[in-house]
Amino acid sequence: MQQRTLGRTGRDVSVIGLGTWQFGGDWGPVSQDDAFAVMDASVEAGVTLFDTADVYGDGTSERLIGQWRASHPDVPLTVATKMGRRMEQVASNYVAENFRTWVDRSRTNLQQDTLDLVQLHCPPTAVFEDDAVYDALDALVADGSIAAYGVSVETADQALTAIARPNVASVQIILNAFRLKPLDRVLPAAKEAGVGILARVPLASGLLSGKYTTETEFPAQDHRNYNRNGEAFDQGETFSGVDFRDGVQAAQEFAAALPDGVSVPQAAIAWVVAQDGVTAAIPGARNAQQARSNADAGSLELPDGLDATVRDLYDRWFRSVVHERW
Ligand SMILES: NC(=O)c1ccc[n+]([C@@H]2O[C@H](COP(=O)([O-])OP(=O)(O)OC[C@H]3O[C@@H](n4cnc5c(N)ncnc54)[C@H](OP(=O)(O)O)[C@@H]3O)[C@@H](O)[C@H]2O)c1
Repeated sequence: MQQRTLGRTGRDVSVIGLGTWQFGGDWGPVSQDDAFAVMDASVEAGVTLFDTADVYGDGTSERLIGQWRASHPDVPLTVATKMGRRMEQVASNYVAENFRTWVDRSRTNLQQDTLDLVQLHCPPTAVFEDDAVYDALDALVADGSIAAYGVSVETADQALTAIARPNVASVQIILNAFRLKPLDRVLPAAKEAGVGILARVPLASGLLSGKYTTETEFPAQDHRNYNRNGEAFDQGETFSGVDFRDGVQAAQEFAAALPDGVSVPQAAIAWVVAQDGVTAAIPGARNAQQARSNADAGSLELPDGLDATVRDLYDRWFRSVVHERW
């Protein structure tokens, strides 16, 4: 598995990481055994980066990672967590006292004295512009509670604001074949500044697995059911904000453009990590088989013409819907 330096953290991580939102139950139930099997399979395939958050299953995802890591002390893992959604997402809640409380809880959950990387979890835009926010994060680095901090963002403009700050180590943003906006300015700016880019939702919540039809239904407790129109959180986090039926049809065109024998989700992930400026993609996996397949995308050679296919699909299906919104 290829390794890249994760921006200003200075740490090397695998180009394919593991997203662990699934461990929290927002995609239907995932058992402890399933979660451990996903982590085992990922690490066996060369993954050294896990992404989590303090709100995934109200800490369940962090605790599972903490338990797994404690029983695998020799694995050179980087765990990126997030904070900032345990209270109402208003700018006045993003203050030093709350950061301290949230970080200490994550340190307990993850069984780590010093967290590897803490990302602000898609806060309001004003938070990215507030000097006091960065001062408070710098203080957490200075006292050893966290080794580095980054941000997770909804929009390209938020990413650019954060990249301009001297100590922001990484930016997490939605980037996949159905969401190309970060290619315009965010990836070049991050590369220039030495800021890492974690590409989240690389499979457009599974659309780019190519396995859904327009008839596919999702369980009531799965965000692909309950947040399809942004009812619970930003619509962009579910199917990347694209219409499900359009996404299914575009994914079929994406699949049809691939050479025989190339898996759709692997090609989709390989395309993401081939974009200049991306440090790693962090696909989520429901089971060990998905985790293994996703990790193996790290060694897939990008099929000829795939980039042109992606840009054509984006222009025809999605640009008018998503490009200005996020
Ligand atoms: N605000 C934020 O900061 C934020 C928001 C969203 C996500 N994230 C992070 O980004 C990570 C990845 O995003 P995501 O999980 O939302 O979306 P994703 O990676 O685009 O899609 C994950 C889904 O794709 C399907 N899938 C994955 N691997 C597959 C394979 N090999 N074959 C077939 N299907 C496969 C599974 O769907 P089925 O369940 O249908 O099998 C899985 O649940 C999250 O886990 C989380 O760590 C962060």
